[in-house]
Amino acid sequence: MACKTASYVLVALCLLGLAAKDAAEATQLVPAVFVFGDSTVDVGNNNYLNSTKQARANYPKHGVDFTGSTPTGRFSNGFNLADQLAQLLGFPMSPPAYLSLTAKTIVSQMYQGINFASGGSGLADKTGLLGAGEVIPMSLQVQYFSKVVAMMQKLSGSKRTKTLLSKSVFLISTGSNDLFEYSLSGGDGDDGEFLLGFVAAYRSYVRALYRLGARKFSVVSITPLGCTPSQRARRLSEGGTRGCYGPINTLSLRTYSMLAASLRDLADELPGMAYSLSDSFAMVSFIFANPRTNAWSNQTATNTRFTELESGCCGSGPFGALGCDETAPLCDNRDDHLFWDANHPTQAASAIAAQTLFAGNRTFVSPINVRELALL
Ligand SMILES: *[C@@H]1O[C@H](CO)[C@@H](O)[C@H](O)[C@H]1NC(C)=O
Ligand SMILES: *[C@@H]1O[C@H](CO)[C@@H](O)[C@H](O)[C@H]1NC(C)=O
Ligand SMILES: *[C@@H]1O[C@H](CO)[C@@H](O)[C@H](O)[C@H]1NC(C)=O
Repeated sequence: MACKTASYVLVALCLLGLAAKDAAEATQLVPAVFVFGDSTVDVGNNNYLNSTKQARANYPKHGVDFTGSTPTGRFSNGFNLADQLAQLLGFPMSPPAYLSLTAKTIVSQMYQGINFASGGSGLADKTGLLGAGEVIPMSLQVQYFSKVVAMMQKLSGSKRTKTLLSKSVFLISTGSNDLFEYSLSGGDGDDGEFLLGFVAAYRSYVRALYRLGARKFSVVSITPLGCTPSQRARRLSEGGTRGCYGPINTLSLRTYSMLAASLRDLADELPGMAYSLSDSFAMVSFIFANPRTNAWSNQTATNTRFTELESGCCGSGPFGALGCDETAPLCDNRDDHLFWDANHPTQAASAIAAQTLFAGNRTFVSPINVRELALL
């Protein structure tokens, strides 16, 4: 808005505009949210890459429950975890995908946050390349963020940049694709060695973000990956039996305590660092055990009752695990399904995850939840 023009009408409009902006900011618990990770939080970055079919979420069925029923690059029927956590923090949805921004729009957007996540990506640079084609690995996501920080410093000075970043939430949801690939490649290496590398990479990215100014981290740990439709189908085809695929569940479970110890050490070492780590394994296990209750979440805020815990809503074949593309069948009752497709939760399931990250008790999120983190 051309606020410098000396017209009374314009001045009044400018004041209104500023008041609206203040009101919006008053409901936000933090100035900005920056998002890193994989398809669990991607909001469209992959649509700008030369990714393969399975690493894209731009088929008509994606976003069937999104405003206008349009695919947006989210691996969901509607909002994903990044959107719903951002909403609880007072934003309309996740900040936009980094690759969707232009030289102009990035300048107005960066003070409110940006989403760098890329479906198929992981902690290792090679993760995703085979199945997903081009992805943005964590190392490049952090590099993109460093460009944004440099731009902010140039335009607003290093002091204001530092203040803004130190108050913002940095959401990280990554690592599942590293585990999937390790497991699919036979997982025959030394699991202990693989897991040490996994946690060392995680630590290096948290440290790199800290060096760039991040202080408040919301870290989403690995869910029981063996219970996704894709891994149930894998067990069925490999062994002929139904159930979760055990070996990858064991790996998923082991990452949690290693990640928890690693973040504890980092917070001891790095002044001003604070974090909120979800125990996503415990969260999802709780849903499997109690699909019809939500005692562990906010009773009044959600009424979800899952009746389909094994099959994806969009997809054909056993457990609907063959991919959600143009021709895949779609279920009617999305809110009854835990899984949207072979590997991703429905909007209803990520709503529960977001609420638990935000306001959950210490069994599911520790040492503090995201609301407490935001208010620090
Ligand atoms: C996209 O990737 C495919 C293989 O995955 C490759 O053959 C093709 O040349 C790539 N296209 C571009 C524009 O990079
Ligand atoms: C958190 O809530 C769950 C479900 O209600 C309960 O089983 C668990 O004991 C609670 N944990 C803590 C630390 O209060
Ligand atoms: C639960 O949700 C209600 C309604 O949205 C809200 O007023 C209340 O503060 C929430 N409680 C917690 C513990 O988050």
